[in-house]
Amino acid sequence: MRFKGKVALVTGGSRGIGRAISLRLASEGANVVVNFFRNRNAAEATITEIKSKGVEVLEARGNIGNPKTVDKIFTKIKERFGKLDILVSNAALGSFSPALDIDDEAWDLAMEVNAKAYLRCVQKAKDMMPSGSKIVAITSLGSQRHIKGYASIAVSKAALETLTRYLAVELAPRGINANTVCGGFIDTEALRGLPDFESLKQQVITRTPGERMGRPEDVADVVAFLCSEDSRWITGQTIIVDGGFSLT
Ligand SMILES: NC(=O)c1ccc[n+]([C@@H]2O[C@H](COP(=O)([O-])OP(=O)(O)OC[C@H]3O[C@@H](n4cnc5c(N)ncnc54)[C@H](OP(=O)(O)O)[C@@H]3O)[C@@H](O)[C@H]2O)c1
Repeated sequence: MRFKGKVALVTGGSRGIGRAISLRLASEGANVVVNFFRNRNAAEATITEIKSKGVEVLEARGNIGNPKTVDKIFTKIKERFGKLDILVSNAALGSFSPALDIDDEAWDLAMEVNAKAYLRCVQKAKDMMPSGSKIVAITSLGSQRHIKGYASIAVSKAALETLTRYLAVELAPRGINANTVCGGFIDTEALRGLPDFESLKQQVITRTPGERMGRPEDVADVVAFLCSEDSRWITGQTIIVDGGFSLT
């Protein structure tokens, strides 16, 4: 019960990787603030599962890319818990196109929801975070390598990784660590929604030394480590969780 009494906000905490992170933190005692946007049924199912672990849950619906949503969520957290120990910036949106075809709308969507929301959340959270608090952002291999059609999201993910390094330095005097977990291909609905999912899956399995797709829990376990005291001397880092995919 490493997180007993701690309060964790997981953006996009209702489905996929965010759901696995919410459940993992709750299973070790954290009270979880679950942010989600469009899918209430999925959120309710996750919230019920979290509650069954005997911790408190605060529902925080809204587009995290909207500054008003961020303000509302932090007001709610302050009223209910008075502090935040763990911030996991996981929610992401974006559209697929070659870099040469990105329009303003696609660029702004990815940057607002993925990168700016992270900055806004940290700015709101910092004065509510006691020493020993942890911040983790979720990125993907596209931040560092070419993934076809992924350019606008990839740039926003690179922004998250760079921002994490700056935040790590600026927050160190407060005793707050900030790190990034960069996932390889993880089997979630987001990926399953791609038209060529089955062929992508086979390619990923063939190329991955671990010989399978990543699972949301593979990411959640690393996030839990980074949210624990065991990671106290790690800050500003990007940890790749891909079963060795990016080595080959
Ligand atoms: N799947 C992969 O292969 C993979 C690999 C590396 C990194 N990642 C990263 O991992 C994170 C989660 O991905 P996933 O595959 O788990 O996605 P997912 O299954 O589609 O889940 C996305 C979650 O984010 C929420 N969300 C989306 N847009 C939101 C917004 N504007 N405001 C608030 N919540 C929002 C969704 O809530 P609603 O359903 O209610 O909208 C849902 O809970 C993303 O940052 C993604 O880039 C994914």
